[in-house]
Amino acid sequence: MSKISMNPNNDYCPQTLFLYGTYDENGNPDFGLFCWLSYIWDGELGVMCCMGGDKLTKRNIERDKVFSANLVTEELLAVADYLGCVSGKNPDKMKIDLDIGKGEVLNVPILNKSPVSYELEVTDFISKHDGKVMLCKIRNVLQDESLSSDETVEQKLARIAPIRTTAKTYLSYDGKALGMWGEPMKTIKK
Ligand SMILES: Cc1cc2nc3c(=O)[nH]c(=O)nc-3n(C[C@H](O)[C@H](O)[C@H](O)COP(=O)(O)O)c2cc1C
Repeated sequence: MSKISMNPNNDYCPQTLFLYGTYDENGNPDFGLFCWLSYIWDGELGVMCCMGGDKLTKRNIERDKVFSANLVTEELLAVADYLGCVSGKNPDKMKIDLDIGKGEVLNVPILNKSPVSYELEVTDFISKHDGKVMLCKIRNVLQDESLSSDETVEQKLARIAPIRTTAKTYLSYDGKALGMWGEPMKTIKK
């Protein structure tokens, strides 16, 4: 294989998408879209994630130290794109049709239509220049009971169809382009 050097990028490293749920300082739920999430091991499975800039999700997590991470599926793509492209500083952001529930263990809002919701508690904040890395304990995983069926993992994944993203493009579970960031949200009715 002949290789060429490039500037930093992650164009060929697709990432799974999650909607992070938090409560604002008045107790109102807010959701934002995030892809910089992965896993850590420290005697048990944990989560690490990174947030850049100033955003409502980040402020809420810094204050409460808890949030939910809800897996984004093809069914949720339009709403996920909207929640990732509209800032929580817009007072009308959450005035859309969303089926919001509550965590079982932590005081976090969850999305009932997501098949997998993590309830996360931040144990470590690592502040950099503009970004913040957060290490989290998984306090609970709320999972659609149909994922406990006898199907293979291949069948279950194909059925729930998690979305991945890279190069500002959304990809279906079987790798088809589903639009650039900012496109799927155009179907949302407000
Ligand atoms: C596909 C996609 C992935 C994103 N991933 C991240 C991420 O991993 N980290 C981050 O800080 N912002 C990320 N964002 C930006 C936030 O979703 C965006 O700032 C959003 O408006 C935050 O909502 P809030 O203001 O309600 O917190 C992403 C946006 C999109 C469209």
